[in-house]
Amino acid sequence: MEPLIHLRDKVAIVTGASRGIGESIARTFASHGAKVVLASRKIEGLEAVAASIRKDGGDAFAKACHTGSRDQVEALVEAAVARFGKVDVLVNNAATNPYFGPMMSIDEAAWDKTFEVNTKGYFFATRAVAQHLMARGAPGSIVNVASVAGLLAMPLQGVYAMTKAAVISMTKTLAMELGTAGIRVNAIAPGLVDTKFAGALTANPEILQFVMDRTALKKVAQPIDIAGMALLLASDAGAYTTGATMVVDGGWTL
Ligand SMILES: NC(=O)c1ccc[n+]([C@@H]2O[C@H](COP(=O)([O-])OP(=O)(O)OC[C@H]3O[C@@H](n4cnc5c(N)ncnc54)[C@H](OP(=O)(O)O)[C@@H]3O)[C@@H](O)[C@H]2O)c1
Repeated sequence: MEPLIHLRDKVAIVTGASRGIGESIARTFASHGAKVVLASRKIEGLEAVAASIRKDGGDAFAKACHTGSRDQVEALVEAAVARFGKVDVLVNNAATNPYFGPMMSIDEAAWDKTFEVNTKGYFFATRAVAQHLMARGAPGSIVNVASVAGLLAMPLQGVYAMTKAAVISMTKTLAMELGTAGIRVNAIAPGLVDTKFAGALTANPEILQFVMDRTALKKVAQPIDIAGMALLLASDAGAYTTGATMVVDGGWTL
């Protein structure tokens, strides 16, 4: 029997692929046969990851893209098609959290930036890939990296949490709207993952203890723990899964 979990002949775009969870997803996809298009704002970090993937025998292309810009995410999808001829999988992963503090005190610029990158970017990238897939009459998989912050009350990260709840909502509606085209749309809700993004949380003993007290597995995730779920959702192992939010949190939300 053919293995279910592989991405041979697939082209995947991964945003936020220069480090952390996105880098791990890109490496995992490449090692399972996908040609990967890596996107983030700074080309240097992307080029380093792409070179390392190619050194390991994979195929990777780096493209600078500010995912809060509709023009830039649409140009990203065009560049991916120009380079590899098509796109089959999109992982919306790049996100931002510029403000840490009580929701009542957030300023408008931080609000706008959080929504722009975390929701607008996810939507317009998804729309561009879905339009491309429908024009080809091809099935596809969209994987949105959300967060348990979208499922829980999240003091000190309230607006970030709102954007993640919005991603979960968008995932459900687009799954309904795109299902007949064979395009699956799913979300992953990670708990605490050991990346630069979570550095302010993992370096704070009180916050770390608070989360670990509630986490069944009593450890912080590594990026590869999230990449495994992204691989499942992108591959044929996820063929009947759409509109779902896969919680990968070591049991935090139990
Ligand atoms: N770490 C956690 O505990 C945790 C928990 C739940 C959910 N998540 C989610 O996981 C995802 C990845 O986070 P991470 O922890 O892996 O973060 P990370 O290590 O800080 O990586 C963030 C990535 O996003 C890119 N990026 C940031 N802003 C961008 C923008 N405006 N346009 C394009 N790229 C941008 C960064 O590259 P450049 O600087 O080059 O742009 C980098 O590649 C996010 O959606 C986050 O909300 C993380």
